[in-house]
Amino acid sequence: MKILGIAGSLRKQSYNRGLLRAAQEVAPSHCSFEIFDLKNIPLYNQEDEGTLPEGVAHLKKSIRAADALLIATPEYNYSIPGVLKNALDWGSRPYGDNAWDRKPVAIIGASPSLQGTSRAQYHLRQVFVTLNMHALNKPELMIGSAQDKFDADGNLTDPKIRQKLAEILAALLSCIQKTV
Ligand SMILES: Cc1cc2nc3c(=O)[nH]c(=O)nc-3n(C[C@H](O)[C@H](O)[C@H](O)COP(=O)(O)O)c2cc1C
Repeated sequence: MKILGIAGSLRKQSYNRGLLRAAQEVAPSHCSFEIFDLKNIPLYNQEDEGTLPEGVAHLKKSIRAADALLIATPEYNYSIPGVLKNALDWGSRPYGDNAWDRKPVAIIGASPSLQGTSRAQYHLRQVFVTLNMHALNKPELMIGSAQDKFDADGNLTDPKIRQKLAEILAALLSCIQKTV
């Protein structure tokens, strides 16, 4: 089983990138867990759909090779960060060549606020409808007050959240088995 993790943040000390590293650590030994870095994805331009930019072609290949996805989203202005939306848009194009189609996906997220990315996560679920992805409903993981649960390098320090990540991966893996 191959899981692909994508964080909607480019910064090194990102809580959401740290969350994916922790998920990678707790992933069961029979599954591989790769993290895709969005730093090489240019801004979407329909004129470039004919010959996809290298980073985008790599993203689409990685999505297609994965059995399931784990998306860690920050919340920007009550919604999905542009970096993540841009990658979702690229992955769905050109029309008729949607790499996200029918992929099982789980959503997680961390932010310093009390709401812990809940608003961004529900916006993301809405986008997954048009992308025709199979989003896991529960368990949900919305981490508020992230500064108390990660160290200065963005590494997760809270063992309860580590346990929750293991539960989400288990649910995601069973979702793959049902959708194959
Ligand atoms: C443009 C911008 C808008 C933000 N809006 C929100 C928000 O609506 N809700 C929230 O919880 N945090 C918001 N934040 C704070 C982010 O949650 C915080 O920067 C977080 O650390 C980003 O995730 P990362 O650590 O993975 O980079 C915002 C940050 C930026 C830069």
